[in-house]
Amino acid sequence: MNKTMDTAVLQEAVMLACRAPSVHNSQPWRWVADGGVVHLFLDRRRAVPGTDRSGREPLISCGAALDHFRVAMLAAGWRTNVERFPTPKEPNHLASITFDSVDRVTKAQRDRAEAILQRRTDRLPLGQPTYWSFFEPVLRDSVDDGPVRLDVLSDEVRPLLAKASALSGVLRRDDASYHAELDWWTSPFTLTEGVPPDALASETEHRRVDVGREFPFRGHEDRRPAVRTDWSKILVLSTPEDSPENSLACGETLSTVLLECTVSFLATCTLTHLIELEESRDIVRSLLGEQGQPQLLIRAGIAPPLERLPAATPRRPLGDVLQIR
Ligand SMILES: Cc1cc2nc3c(=O)[nH]c(=O)nc-3n(C[C@H](O)[C@H](O)[C@H](O)COP(=O)(O)O)c2cc1C
Repeated sequence: MNKTMDTAVLQEAVMLACRAPSVHNSQPWRWVADGGVVHLFLDRRRAVPGTDRSGREPLISCGAALDHFRVAMLAAGWRTNVERFPTPKEPNHLASITFDSVDRVTKAQRDRAEAILQRRTDRLPLGQPTYWSFFEPVLRDSVDDGPVRLDVLSDEVRPLLAKASALSGVLRRDDASYHAELDWWTSPFTLTEGVPPDALASETEHRRVDVGREFPFRGHEDRRPAVRTDWSKILVLSTPEDSPENSLACGETLSTVLLECTVSFLATCTLTHLIELEESRDIVRSLLGEQGQPQLLIRAGIAPPLERLPAATPRRPLGDVLQIR
């Protein structure tokens, strides 16, 4: 660590990094601070093989945490230099990060870090973003020129997406390991991981979001009754290949997109159930028109402005995920 960097700054940044979204809130990451370097590792024990046989989703989750960390450090006055996959024989070693201090932090950089604490995965129906034509160029500008492509799907293809979503549900109806995993990660009894009951849609709510993953129903509420049907914009992130490097990059872009939406008062929900089975992934692929591997979809829309922000989902204690040597 740079001599003048306070350990508390680093701990705070890792804490914010761990607010990143992760598949089923599995938080498959481990951080090690050693001298002037912070290392990010994939924790393979926290994989979700019943949901994602490919192993891409934990890597995407770590990519999101890496970008969250960079955003948090920048807001604290430290620019990050990242070497990705720095140890060829250690595929779990995802990044080594060093730091340079910056003289000035802009308001936009601070806003992005604050958005980390405002962001939630919102599984309820969302209204149509009315100012989308102004927002889309801003969003595209925020995504860098890396391997990840951002597509915004036209509203006309929504019925096809709904079909792909339903198809993935039908094909998994008898998949016992998938349902056991979903049950475990949505158990109401876990305190530091998984998706709590309040963050899930009830059956009535789920019916109004035609592209949502069907989680176990834990409640009977009908929240947000004024939004009868989900009219969120659907974004797709895709990469040239299904490599670990591309998955990590996809997670970094996911973080950028989610935070940029949050800064602009758009609610978001990451979706991967359509990508986990080839049959529904093919349908998404057919909508992209070009070569490329779709990795995930994001619903982005308007939640009623007067609604109270729901409680944040839990995270593992910092001591379980960060080691300071
Ligand atoms: C790779 C990845 C895949 C995800 N897939 C889904 C999904 O298919 N459906 C869904 O509702 N949420 C999905 N999520 C959102 C997570 O469930 C969510 O991030 C996690 O429960 C933590 O909650 P939070 O985002 O509100 O902090 C995904 C997130 C990531 C990073």
